[in-house]
Amino acid sequence: MRTLVAGNWKMHKDNAGTNALLDAICKGAAPAPGVEVLVAPAFPFLAQAVQRCKGTAVHVAAQNCHEAAQGAFTGEVSVPMLGSLGVGHCIVGHSERRLYFGETDRVVGQKMSALLHAGIVPIYCCGERKEERLAGEHEAVVARQLEEALGALTTEQMAQVVIAYEPVWAIGTGLTATAQQAQEMHAHVRAWLQGNFGAVARRIPLLYGGSCKPENAAELFACPDVNGGLIGGAALDAATFLAIVHAAGHAPH
Ligand code: PGA
Repeated sequence: MRTLVAGNWKMHKDNAGTNALLDAICKGAAPAPGVEVLVAPAFPFLAQAVQRCKGTAVHVAAQNCHEAAQGAFTGEVSVPMLGSLGVGHCIVGHSERRLYFGETDRVVGQKMSALLHAGIVPIYCCGERKEERLAGEHEAVVARQLEEALGALTTEQMAQVVIAYEPVWAIGTGLTATAQQAQEMHAHVRAWLQGNFGAVARRIPLLYGGSCKPENAAELFACPDVNGGLIGGAALDAATFLAIVHAAGHAPH
């Protein structure tokens, strides 16, 4: 099983800041067998990110895409545009997209199809809100999200997907899920995958996201069903992000 560490830079860093962070991460990320390092800068900087990361251990992801291949959708970016730049991964269905931009499971599913059709790896985000966890509904909520966005995929398509479990209450709040909470949910996701897609479930990387930082990364990555992390705030500083990459390289599985 490969381990992934992906930095989601969200709407941070200008042109110079993007270049400086890219260069520092590329310089510090030594190739480690079985560990994939991804960075997701903002749209305007993807082309230069692909160029700057060429020949390094770092790969470039987008943070979002539109579901249509082209058309009159002012301000949007299509999957073929990303593909033409050499972007190999794309985050889909992040809770901030769902919350602030009204993305529904249906649209997220359409984006998944567009990405898979183009051979770009979707990093599909799911996760419950605080009230849902407090009500004990977290497993049912995540199962419903998985069903709606992934339920119709073929096994071959599913084999291309990366899943990120990101409890909404942990994103940007400093409140990390405990290793036990993360492992319990990841085991639940793995069981759902096994039930719907069979043996391929064992090969699908399940990332944890939500206030992951160097202080907790090693413990989270040691969980048997946690195969890396989707990192927000801690991805904006090269040394901090590289410490998380280092923890992934030393995970026991
Ligand atoms: P955070 O964000 O690490 O800042 O909590 C994670 C994410 O939103 O992907």
